[in-house]
Amino acid sequence: MSVLAIIGGSGFSAFPGLEVRDRQPVETRYGTTSAPLVQGRIGGQPVCFLARHGSEHRLPPHRINYRANIQALADAGCSSVVALAAVGGIHPACSPGTLCVPDQLVDYTYGRAHSFFDDESEGVCHVDFTEPYSQALRQQLLSAAAAAGIVLRDGGTYAVSQGPRLETAAEVRRMARDGCDLVGMTAMPEAALARERGLGYATLAFVVNWGAGLSDEAITMDAINAQIERCADDIGRLLAVFAEQRAAPVS
Ligand code: HPA
Repeated sequence: MSVLAIIGGSGFSAFPGLEVRDRQPVETRYGTTSAPLVQGRIGGQPVCFLARHGSEHRLPPHRINYRANIQALADAGCSSVVALAAVGGIHPACSPGTLCVPDQLVDYTYGRAHSFFDDESEGVCHVDFTEPYSQALRQQLLSAAAAAGIVLRDGGTYAVSQGPRLETAAEVRRMARDGCDLVGMTAMPEAALARERGLGYATLAFVVNWGAGLSDEAITMDAINAQIERCADDIGRLLAVFAEQRAAPVS
């Protein structure tokens, strides 16, 4: 059984149900992780937890050391990563409050250290990224949601924007034309780095606002934070069942 890693996003510097056993700062050859690596338990199962934006939630998406984070999880023996992500909804079915496991992404970011194969030390390598998310992890999340009685949308394309500002209405319209259903700021390069290090990776996205221009209401941090709070219990419960089901012997 592989060790499970959970990367917490906005609103999840910790989360309900995470029992903390140890917390250690980690230095990797790519630099320091966003936050100390937490060894803990969820649903009675061991997990490594990393707060992507830092323990105090001070790191904006373009300043996160994604390489250090993924390297630290690989070094800690993790082989599966569930990445939590607060996102905006673009598809009409992705209204605020929706939980979703996307199956594709489009990368609109720039200027981020986006590969481990960046210099001669690791050589040239082009990883297959046709399916950016682990189908096995996605299915396990969907089955945990069904068991927990939580509605989880299967599939969708995650547009990864640079941030930290939100998008213009025209940018969101372009993303919709590109086939995107959700918009967030952190899935890249995180997902690609996980693939380069051989870690299974899935995003558990929760919609906290309508994408820019899709609603008459202004997008405010207060409204986003209120929506995160409304999703937190379901996400904690879903992850607990997910961890339990992964540990259960296959009959
Ligand atoms: N755009 C980009 N990232 C986000 C959004 C959004 O509307 N909401 C939460 N994260």
